[in-house]
Amino acid sequence: MANNYTVRIQGKNSDVTVAEDQSILDAALRANEWLPHSCTQGTCGTCKLKVLCGEVNHNESPEYTLTAGERADGLVLGCMATPRSDLTVEPLGGTGDDGVPHFPLRDYDATVVVLEDIAANTRRLVVELDTPMLFNAGQYAELIVPEHNVGRQYSMANPPTETRRLEFHVKLTPEGLATERWIFGPMQVGDRLSLRGPLGQFNLVKEQDEPAILIGGGTGLAPLKSIVQHALAERLVPELYLYHGGRRQEDLYDVEFFRGLAREHEHFHYRPALSEEQWDGAMGMVTDVVLDDFSSCKGMSAYLCGPPPMVEAAVKALKRRRMAPRLIFREEFTVAA
Ligand code: FES
Repeated sequence: MANNYTVRIQGKNSDVTVAEDQSILDAALRANEWLPHSCTQGTCGTCKLKVLCGEVNHNESPEYTLTAGERADGLVLGCMATPRSDLTVEPLGGTGDDGVPHFPLRDYDATVVVLEDIAANTRRLVVELDTPMLFNAGQYAELIVPEHNVGRQYSMANPPTETRRLEFHVKLTPEGLATERWIFGPMQVGDRLSLRGPLGQFNLVKEQDEPAILIGGGTGLAPLKSIVQHALAERLVPELYLYHGGRRQEDLYDVEFFRGLAREHEHFHYRPALSEEQWDGAMGMVTDVVLDDFSSCKGMSAYLCGPPPMVEAAVKALKRRRMAPRLIFREEFTVAA
């Protein structure tokens, strides 16, 4: 049986019990002690902590995220490090006490209720949870691949008011353990599965005075769909622009859903764009379409989710239009094979 250690989080004055084989981040989130994080896989560096007292195992913390110099300075990745003694740690990204509500990480069991093809090599998976999950629009859950006991991360596409039915958008990866060999393979409506969530800090939960631009590529649309529905229901922004980029029409999905929202809400604007096929909508790379549509983005904010080249291009385009970097929020898009 695993030993437990006590981890004190500096700045919160709270103690969290962490098992010796459990990451500090996992234990803190389960205890509803929010710590900054994004990928939970050791790749983004958002979860860095300074160990003020005690010893840890770094486990598989990659050198490109946590350098030898940082380790020597007592830094650890909260999502990878496990305790070897009682600890005192200080979150480098703050304690997250910024007025945003946070919800505890939990394990859930669920039933598959919808499994449908919605675009080229893209499926919508809807599950009904046995117990409700509270989350913020933009967060994600980790689906546990049966028999392999490994997690794959997918953003919730449903609004957070729907706490029992979670919608995910899944892109096929050839030979992928979770995709070709499960969700695009033997998975059927009625199957049972396990997941954990909510995770991540990509969200728009607070009212803001200036317009927001949401740019998604491929299944990067999923968290944006949740954010759009939440922002419209709560009237969080004065103007909301959603761009969805694809190469061909077969890459787009939920077009009629968003067109319907745009008809209902005159402050919501939906602009799907295609880069490789003529059609009656916007043409070109989605970021070029944004550049054409706005002469200035000063004071506005942006929420980006998609393949890294698209996100990089969007950041550049928005900065060219004078958007402040601190108002550009991006979700790390990992290919969940
Ligand atoms: Fe820990 Fe990304 S490296 S959350």
